[in-house]
Amino acid sequence: MNNFVFYSPTEFVFGKDTEKQVGALALKYGARRVMIVYGGGSAVRSGLLDRVKQALREAGLTFCEMGGVQPNPIDTKVYEGIDLCRREEVDMLLAVGGGSVIDTAKAIAAGVPYEGDFWDFYLGKAQVTKALKVAVVLTIPAAGSEGSGNTVITKVDGLQKLSLRAPMYLRPVFSIMNPELTYTLPPFQTACGVCDMMVHIFERYFTNTSDVEISDRMCEGVLTAIVKEAYRIRQNPQNYGARANLMWAGMVAHNGTCGVGCEEDWASHFLEHEVSALYNVAHGAGLAVIVPAWMTFMAENHPQKVAQLAARLFEVPVQEDLHEMALACVSRLKHFFRYMGLPVSFKELGIENPDIPLLVRKLHENKGPLVGNYVKLTPKDSEEIYQLAL
Ligand code: NZQ
Ligand code: ZN
Repeated sequence: MNNFVFYSPTEFVFGKDTEKQVGALALKYGARRVMIVYGGGSAVRSGLLDRVKQALREAGLTFCEMGGVQPNPIDTKVYEGIDLCRREEVDMLLAVGGGSVIDTAKAIAAGVPYEGDFWDFYLGKAQVTKALKVAVVLTIPAAGSEGSGNTVITKVDGLQKLSLRAPMYLRPVFSIMNPELTYTLPPFQTACGVCDMMVHIFERYFTNTSDVEISDRMCEGVLTAIVKEAYRIRQNPQNYGARANLMWAGMVAHNGTCGVGCEEDWASHFLEHEVSALYNVAHGAGLAVIVPAWMTFMAENHPQKVAQLAARLFEVPVQEDLHEMALACVSRLKHFFRYMGLPVSFKELGIENPDIPLLVRKLHENKGPLVGNYVKLTPKDSEEIYQLAL
């Protein structure tokens, strides 16, 4: 196990009706003027936004708001938010939504006190040293942004989708997680969330670091629970217990707990980010296409941990031929994704002829000559994985 620092100060307030506490919590964390950030309208239609505003008013807080954040959020909305926050002298961003909304709020939070262009942080040209506070009312378990210090934004000019890690400044101060808020999710969005959280665990599980038994077993345990709860939700979308477990799983999958002490991989995410940047597909659906292809490549090149996952998650009988076990893992995973209504190839994703040379070029321009750690992918390897996803 490697040395590590794990700092995760977010206060999670979990359960039914917890959004009513948003005003009291915002006060507790020192807010005076709040900006509510939300998406394309689901929080308006469900009445959640009104309840949040009411709770803020009852706490004596004033607020402004910015809606219209789209999935795969873009830089132009961040600039709009930074301007608004400065004009309105906001001191806390309250994201009401999923990963796209939270990531936009985080980008704004970092951008407001910074004199330069917020995109400098994503390019690695500047470090975040100050940020407004970010708080969350979560409506979809998926990206795990409610517990992570990360944000992912796409620059419209050049379709560059980049992530920024600044856990000391951008982890939400509090996240409200009411599983009932997820009842309104379309099944496809639930499925995308399931895939995304599973892959957040894979990125940590597929490591060459030795002596990571705790991480391995936590990863396998959370993955087993996710698959079980996903089946239950598919059968009954209003199953509170299943929704609650899935919501917590999404947080556990990505706040760092499952990967402490491990060298993490992240190649599948980077391969996918190019796909969602170029074709604007849902991140979780893109991952359902990329990950089986990545695992198939690993079956040939480094099957060990994929074989272990096959045995422990999908109960594939242990045998000497690790390649065979790894392929069995791919086949079971695809079966599960299909059951959830997810695509498992570019074709099923609606992209008949992906521009693979462009995907490969942008991936390695953005992420360097070698991508990932479990196997460090060269451009030729990346091309092969995109081909396997056809
Ligand atoms: O925009 P609205 O109308 O709210 O609709 C959203 C959106 O269309 C809808 N939705 C959310 N909650 C709902 C709901 N519909 C009905 N009822 C509800 N309760 O779901 C759609 C998807 O929302 P989005 O926020 O885009 O989903 P998700 O949480 O999957 O976030 C995806 C983004 O997060 C990034 C992804 O790349 C993508 O841009 N990621 C962020 C990470 C992070 N910050 O740590 C890590 C991830 O790996 C990921 O890359
Ligand atoms: Zn993800």
